[in-house]
Amino acid sequence: MTFTIIVHGGAGAVDPSSLETRRQGCLAAAQAGLRILAAGGLALDAVQAAVVALEDNPLFNAGTGSTLNREGLVETDAAIMDGSNLRAGAVAAVSGIHNPIQLARAVMEHSPHVLLAGEGAYVFAKHHGVATCNPDELIVPAQRNHWHEKHGTVGAVALDTHGRLASATSTGGVFDKLPGRIGDTPLIGCGTYANLQAAVSCTGLGEDITRTTLARHAAYLVEQGMMVAEAAARAISEFSAATGSEAGLILVDRSGRTAHARNTSNMPVCAMHADGHTDLQS
Ligand code: GLY
Repeated sequence: MTFTIIVHGGAGAVDPSSLETRRQGCLAAAQAGLRILAAGGLALDAVQAAVVALEDNPLFNAGTGSTLNREGLVETDAAIMDGSNLRAGAVAAVSGIHNPIQLARAVMEHSPHVLLAGEGAYVFAKHHGVATCNPDELIVPAQRNHWHEKHGTVGAVALDTHGRLASATSTGGVFDKLPGRIGDTPLIGCGTYANLQAAVSCTGLGEDITRTTLARHAAYLVEQGMMVAEAAARAISEFSAATGSEAGLILVDRSGRTAHARNTSNMPVCAMHADGHTDLQS
């Protein structure tokens, strides 16, 4: 049985001077996930490890480095999904959490719910040993100075040696959002989705991704027999036609074939495969 992982660092135009460091950040995240897969670990653990690496990298709009809302505060969203059993966990508009993807995993494993938001999610983190922090610790100096440039979302999808697919996505959301705004990332089927056939993670303007249930649609195209590259391109093209908006996605199927598509100028992506092949793009 093969294994593979693909990660993204968010769709959208970025300062060209940061492109290479973003690509390297995606490479490091994919390597973190691949190590788990190569040791026979779960896709779920691999996508979580990859997203933690991206959340901890202040270059990306997730965890540390998240964009600020209209009141200058960080409120994050994240989701994780196990395609083998459709279990999922998510958190929305939560502050003071270093790694929101770990909290999403805790919601999946230790609650009967799929999505917890705001203060309730924070209290849940306290009760389940997920690291909390002063919300200001997630704000990096570059962001205070250039917060209008922050955008994007991070994500990972993987297939493990047991044939299981998983997806994880994490974000600080969109710049200047209203307090309490929740995007596509924690909404299952919108920014994040995995089942027996495909796993998908999206990035882009959350309101439009939500309206088009983009992740579920891309997985549906794979279920209908489309190859992953065509499914990814078709999903983005139909998204563009329906909304005129911007997005990107990554995709993996049950055979370990990976693909990505975007209608934005940039989206750093790194795919790593069992045979050692690495595909790094921006
Ligand atoms: N796609 C991330 C967001 O809109 O929140």
